[in-house]
Amino acid sequence: MTSVVRNQWYVAAYGREVGRDLFSRTVCGESILFWRTRGGLVTAMSDRCVHRRFPLSEPPSHLDGDTVVCGYHGFTYGADGVCVAVPGQTRIPRTARLKAYPVVEQDSFVWVFIGDPDRAAGTPIPRAPWLDLPGWTAVSGMEPLAARASLLVDNLMDLSHETYLHGGYIGTPEVAETPITTEVDEEAGIVRVSRRMADAACPPFYAKSTGITGRITRWQDIEFTPPCLYRLHSRIAPAGVLPNADGTDPDAFHVEVVYAITPETESSTHDFWAVARDFALDDEAVSDFLRESNRTVVLQDVAALNVLERVLTGEPDGYQELSINIDTGGLAARRMIARLSAAL
Ligand code: FES
Ligand SMILES: [Fe+2]
Repeated sequence: MTSVVRNQWYVAAYGREVGRDLFSRTVCGESILFWRTRGGLVTAMSDRCVHRRFPLSEPPSHLDGDTVVCGYHGFTYGADGVCVAVPGQTRIPRTARLKAYPVVEQDSFVWVFIGDPDRAAGTPIPRAPWLDLPGWTAVSGMEPLAARASLLVDNLMDLSHETYLHGGYIGTPEVAETPITTEVDEEAGIVRVSRRMADAACPPFYAKSTGITGRITRWQDIEFTPPCLYRLHSRIAPAGVLPNADGTDPDAFHVEVVYAITPETESSTHDFWAVARDFALDDEAVSDFLRESNRTVVLQDVAALNVLERVLTGEPDGYQELSINIDTGGLAARRMIARLSAAL
């Protein structure tokens, strides 16, 4: 996993995916077992038994209270990954412990720390509060991507592709036509890219969910915390309607689009996506529409990036990319990720 930033928190799952069933997901090349204790806490430990490496997520491995029992010969581990029982002897080898991962449940996500666990506490976890906040309704999912994480970063940092790849869903001509501004906040570790369209067509994604029929003022303000959490603050309002001087914005619709980009391997990625809104909070039809639409859009990206991954792996390294203004945010993100990689 040479191109992947380690010593980093990554989203491994949604909290709803982890319960009293054994659940496994590979993050940065490491197979990790997740389960919830009877008290409701999420655990994260290696999904390979220390005895003969049988996966603990594989039947007949199972939970027994707050322990997990290997389905091959019965090594039994506690919630901290330490072996508490082995078959045929009372002495438990001191090294019989699974690698345990620092794990935090926050903003509907299960975050794990990959790398040196001693560095977990000093590494901030980026926030996406709207996914789990009163006054907001969120829909979310995860699509497997057969492409390296950096291709998804490029994709999300340059939304001009909405016009072409997502035409008829979220793309309109104005997205590609409107220049961006890019700002790098080194101290906060955030790359910001803004595109503010004063008078744009309303794409179906927003027309159907908000009920706006005419032209719109559309703001796309991206904040990306490399390497793992992307937030798009999307503001939609009838053309000409701006926030009040005091910052209140009652006549606009706000959508927070969140992506957690988690490398599975060098060349595959977990593409977690979520869409939170501050309107039509209890309207199931709007939730269903946004879930289905965003998933469709994500799958359009997945299809394109899967093709791109195949092309890149089939060609010699060292090709010369040609970058233009729209790539400023993506290039800034790459530089920040390169620095994070080098610093570890
Ligand atoms: S492989 Fe797990 S107990 Fe033997
Ligand atoms: Fe896209």
